[in-house]
Amino acid sequence: MNERETLKVNPRGHLEIGGADCIELAADFGTPLYVFDEAYIRNMMRVYRNTIEEEYNGNGLVLYASKAFSCEAMYAIARQEGLGADVVSGGELYTAMRAGFPAEKICFHGNNKLKSEIMYALDCGVGCFVVDASSEADFLDEEAGKRGIVQDVLVRINPGVEAHTHAFVQTATPDSKFGFSIHNGTAEKMVESLLQKKHLRLLGYHSHIGSQIFEKQSFVLAVKKVLDFAADIKQKYCFEPQTVNMGGGFGIWYTDEDSKISAGGYRDYLSSLIGAVKAECAAHGLRFPRIMIEPGRSIVGEAGITLYTVGAIKEIPGLKKYVAIDGGMFDNPRYCLYQSKYTAVLANRAAEKPTELVSVAGKCCESGDLIGVNMPLPEAHTGDILAVLSTGAYNYSMASNYNRNLIPPAVLVNNGRAEYIVKPQHYEDLVRFDAVPEYLKK
Ligand SMILES: Cc1ncc(COP(=O)(O)O)c(C=O)c1O
Repeated sequence: MNERETLKVNPRGHLEIGGADCIELAADFGTPLYVFDEAYIRNMMRVYRNTIEEEYNGNGLVLYASKAFSCEAMYAIARQEGLGADVVSGGELYTAMRAGFPAEKICFHGNNKLKSEIMYALDCGVGCFVVDASSEADFLDEEAGKRGIVQDVLVRINPGVEAHTHAFVQTATPDSKFGFSIHNGTAEKMVESLLQKKHLRLLGYHSHIGSQIFEKQSFVLAVKKVLDFAADIKQKYCFEPQTVNMGGGFGIWYTDEDSKISAGGYRDYLSSLIGAVKAECAAHGLRFPRIMIEPGRSIVGEAGITLYTVGAIKEIPGLKKYVAIDGGMFDNPRYCLYQSKYTAVLANRAAEKPTELVSVAGKCCESGDLIGVNMPLPEAHTGDILAVLSTGAYNYSMASNYNRNLIPPAVLVNNGRAEYIVKPQHYEDLVRFDAVPEYLKK
C-alpha cells in the first residue's frame, strides 16, 4: 500500500483515515482523539527495513525512535516488524519491556541517564547503551563489573553538522548538550577512555544531527564526518567501529510548505546514507560497519491525526478569528514549543475548500495555547469535527495534564476497524497521585 492513501474523503464528504470514517470515530470514541493508521506505520517500518536488507545485505538494524510515540502497542508493532527500539528513559524502557520487546534490540539513549535507569537497563539486558557522559561511562563500567558482564556501548559523537531545522530540534550543532564533539577533541578523549574500560565493549559511534530534515546532503555530510573521525581513531588507537548509528531525523509533511516524501523518497534518503557509508569506508580502508538508524517522526508522524470538536468561535473584527477546540497545548504543545505548522481539515465537510484564515485555539488558560495561526479552513461552526493532520509524532508523547485537562486516548485503525491503544483518562486519574498532609485536612 502507498502510505499516501491513509487519508481520503469518502462519498459522504467525511475525512477517512485507514478506512475509518472520522465522524464515526468521533462519535464512537469522543474527542479529542488521537487516531493512528496501522498500515502506514507498518509500511514505513518495512521501507527502512527492506532498504537495509536489499542495499546493505541486511547488515543493520532499524530502531524505532520511541520518543516519537511510545505505548505498548507501538512497541508490539515494531517487534512484529523486526525492528529494534531506541529508548531515552526508564519509563520508555519499562513500556517496551511490558510489551515483550526483545531487550537485546534496544538502544538506551540520554544525555543524563539516572543511576537508577542505568541499573534498570542493565538488569533488563538492553543490547546497547549510547554513552553520552563520562560519568555515565564510569558508573556503567562499575555496574557491569558488579554483574560480571561486558556491556556493549556506542559513544554519541557530535559531528557539528548544522541541518536546516528549528534550533530546538537541532542536536549536532557545536553548543549542543548532546554528544562529544569531534572538533574540540572530547570525542577522541571519550573513545580513549571507553577503550580502557574493562566491562564495556565499544562497538562504534552514534550521531543524530536533528529532526525534520529534508536535505539529503546533511545526512551524507554527517556520515562523512563520523567516518573521517573513525579513520583518525583507527590510526591512533587501532580501533575500527563495527557499528555506526546515524540517528533519525527524516522530515515529514505538515503543510504544503513541506515536501511530500513518498515511500520511495524515504528509501532514497536511506540509500544515500548507505551509499555514503560505503564510499567513506572504501576511501578510508575501513570495513563496512553494521548500520543502525533511528527514525521516529517519519514512521509515525503522518500516520496520526487528532480529532477535535469545534466549540467557541470568536471574531475580533479586522484582526483575527479564533476557532476554539476541545484540545490544545495539553495534547499538542508543538506550536507553543517551536511554532510548528499544521494542516487542519473540517472532517465532516472534508471536500469543502478553505475560504478563510483562522487561528485554531486550545482551551487552556494561556494566550499562547494555539494549534496554529493563519490556518486555511472553510467557515467553521460549533460542533464541526476538526482534524489536525500529521500529529502522530511528538504529540501524545509530549502531552501533559496542564490545567488538569485529560490527555486524550488514542485508537489504532486498520481497514476501518478501530481499537484503543491508549485508554481514556478520567478525573480520578488526575488526583491519583495527589496527597494531602494531615494538617491540611482540618
Ligand atoms: C538520538 C535520537 N535518535 C532519533 C531521534 C528521532 O528523530 P526523528 O523522530 O526526527 O526521526 C531523535 C529525536 O530527537 C533523537 O534525539
